[in-house]
Amino acid sequence: MFYDTAKNNHGLRFTPLKALVAPRPIGWISTLDKNGVANLAPFSFFNLVSDRPPCVIFSGGGPKDSWRNAQETGEFVCSLATWDLRYEMNASSAEVPPEIDEFTISRLTKAPSTTVKPPRVAESPVALECKYVSTTTTPRDEKTGKLHHLVLGLVVGIYIDDRFIKDGLVDTGAMMPIARMGYHDYAVVRPENVFTMELPEHDAKGNVLGPWGKKQS
Ligand SMILES: Cc1cc2nc3c(=O)[nH]c(=O)nc-3n(C[C@H](O)[C@H](O)[C@H](O)COP(=O)(O)O)c2cc1C
Repeated sequence: MFYDTAKNNHGLRFTPLKALVAPRPIGWISTLDKNGVANLAPFSFFNLVSDRPPCVIFSGGGPKDSWRNAQETGEFVCSLATWDLRYEMNASSAEVPPEIDEFTISRLTKAPSTTVKPPRVAESPVALECKYVSTTTTPRDEKTGKLHHLVLGLVVGIYIDDRFIKDGLVDTGAMMPIARMGYHDYAVVRPENVFTMELPEHDAKGNVLGPWGKKQS
């Protein structure tokens, strides 16, 4: 099948787009508003977009406290959403008024960050401390008139729970990160699902040497 996204003429029960770009990592974004009230919400329109300098983007549809706070205060933190924290992550997505602190309603603990003011999720094994860089917007959707705000942040400090560092490497599988798929579906990384593949080598003619172990032509 093929469908035109403007017409949305897929004929399926629900728009399939988010089931097709999957799994998407979840940025669990904490911010403070101008009055110091904490805010926490998951964003699956989120990713690491560069490593040097280290930058992340999250994207909010409609007015969201997270991007407004990040813009106004210049800081945000992304904690890692994991299998053990799946219900808390989900609870923190509640669309509540800005004066409500989602750490409290999600029964999570705040831990102080090192380089920025917004706290991290203490129960999460990783937190990226970010300085706000800029916001850009998507075009307006022709049908609904809606747009998304894309917030770019520079990662200035990173917290890693030492229990997940083994032989000088981070054991991501052991953290069991969760990711968003389409509909109400999620994926989880478990240690047994992690596989390793080194970059391929090429000869001067561009032939790939391996990973099959012999020269391919
Ligand atoms: C797993 C998950 C991923 C989500 N991803 C996004 C997203 O990428 N963008 C968005 O606007 N809302 C997303 N939401 C909904 C927001 O978390 C929700 O609207 C939240 O209340 C926003 O909070 P805020 O207004 O405090 O920023 C997601 C919800 C869940 C459960």
